[in-house]
Amino acid sequence: MSDKPTNSMMTDNARDWSPESWSRCASASEMQFRYPDESGLAAARARLTQLPPLVTSWEIEKLREQIAQAQRGERFILQGGDCAEMIDLCRSDLITNKLKILLQMSLVLIHGLRMPVTRVGRFAGQYAKPRSSPTETKQINGESCTLPSYFGDLVNRIDFDEQSRTPDPMLMVEGYMHAAMTLNFIRSLLDGGFADLHHPEYWDLSFFNNASVSDLRRAQYLNMSRTLADGIAFMQNLGEQRVEEATRVDFYTSHEGLNLYYEQAQTRKVPRREGYYDLSTHLPWIGERNRQLDGPHIEFFRGIKNPVGVKVGPGMQPDELIALIDALNPNNTPGKLVLITRMGVGKVADKLPALLERVRDEGRHALWMSDPMHGNGITTASGIKTRSFDDILSELEQAVDCHKQAGTVLGGVHFELTGEDVTECIGGGSGITEDDLSRNYVSLCDPRLNYQQSLELGFLLAQKMGNE
Ligand code: PEP
Ligand code: CO
Repeated sequence: MSDKPTNSMMTDNARDWSPESWSRCASASEMQFRYPDESGLAAARARLTQLPPLVTSWEIEKLREQIAQAQRGERFILQGGDCAEMIDLCRSDLITNKLKILLQMSLVLIHGLRMPVTRVGRFAGQYAKPRSSPTETKQINGESCTLPSYFGDLVNRIDFDEQSRTPDPMLMVEGYMHAAMTLNFIRSLLDGGFADLHHPEYWDLSFFNNASVSDLRRAQYLNMSRTLADGIAFMQNLGEQRVEEATRVDFYTSHEGLNLYYEQAQTRKVPRREGYYDLSTHLPWIGERNRQLDGPHIEFFRGIKNPVGVKVGPGMQPDELIALIDALNPNNTPGKLVLITRMGVGKVADKLPALLERVRDEGRHALWMSDPMHGNGITTASGIKTRSFDDILSELEQAVDCHKQAGTVLGGVHFELTGEDVTECIGGGSGITEDDLSRNYVSLCDPRLNYQQSLELGFLLAQKMGNE
């Protein structure tokens, strides 16, 4: 298919869309939550509309260009962060550690894949969560009580009482403020040399000495980290200036664009550019539960200039996927669309190939990314939500194989991770078992890979892809 749109595509897109057209969508009332306080909602939206943007259109355009490169196999995208950020956990140590693990993973991938890596954090706005049910019922003093589910700190509060669970529009302003503080700190860290690769802690992988991995694997990790450190030392010898240029680090932000009031309020025209940009983040994505073709999320995200991600689960049919691609990227623009597959370890080999082949055969431009987290949730006998490191790794490896078979490009990965020593996922070299889960389980939402599990996964992915 040519990159040229048909006339009807272009005019339909331009004619019918506006930043608020999603609210006239027949199923807009199906957004899972409702704000009962209408005047509060109007005030919060007005305030957010006046506040300055969190990101700029030129950063967004730069990311779009990098996604286009990744589509062509010239670059790789590493996306990762919390399942749900929490306003109370907007803390310097947690932000720093999240940046550090993403940076370390990216270095390992640069080395293994021999190509540049773009880092995208699930941060500075990952505050809204879709739920499988709009309400939650609990027994309180022997009586059954039903309240709205917790939709993340951008919408309501976790405590199970009526006031906390009622969607509060001012939380959108609070979320914006904390996203701004997070971003401000990240920008200062990067400007101030946080990503300076001379810092010894980036190369201290001594914890692998005690990890319960095979001797072969331990030797491979140590060998890779030694080669990496040697490479940096070599560049350093070339002169300070060269190292700084070569290792200048960009970070981009992403979040699930669940709350369309929030997204709309930050969606604007900017001088000297055509169209509207959602300036709350560089890369918003649409979740698996909100990608109905006639739904409000597709309506909103089809009209903005940002690259947009969409989750693709095992129920997706090839025809539906083509319709979704055409709705979100009618001009078939490279770098505009990220298809984030999240099939599950038992389904990926069965479901992914037909989608890859169809998109390939129809000539649609999209970046394929693998999210090996969201199809692999399990609940232990004692009721704790977890994921197994081996399942996550296996889905990733199978996705690599499916792309190889189809002759398509796996251009990125999407993880839920943290830079902390949490015990939320089982397995990996740190040997976390079901019995360890309660030791440091912090996530209010999905379980994340901890620091060591994340880095180990980076090594294994680099090894798998580097050998292909
Ligand atoms: C998520 O990324 O946190 C999420 C809810 O994913 P999905 O929409 O794929 O279930
Ligand atoms: Co999640």
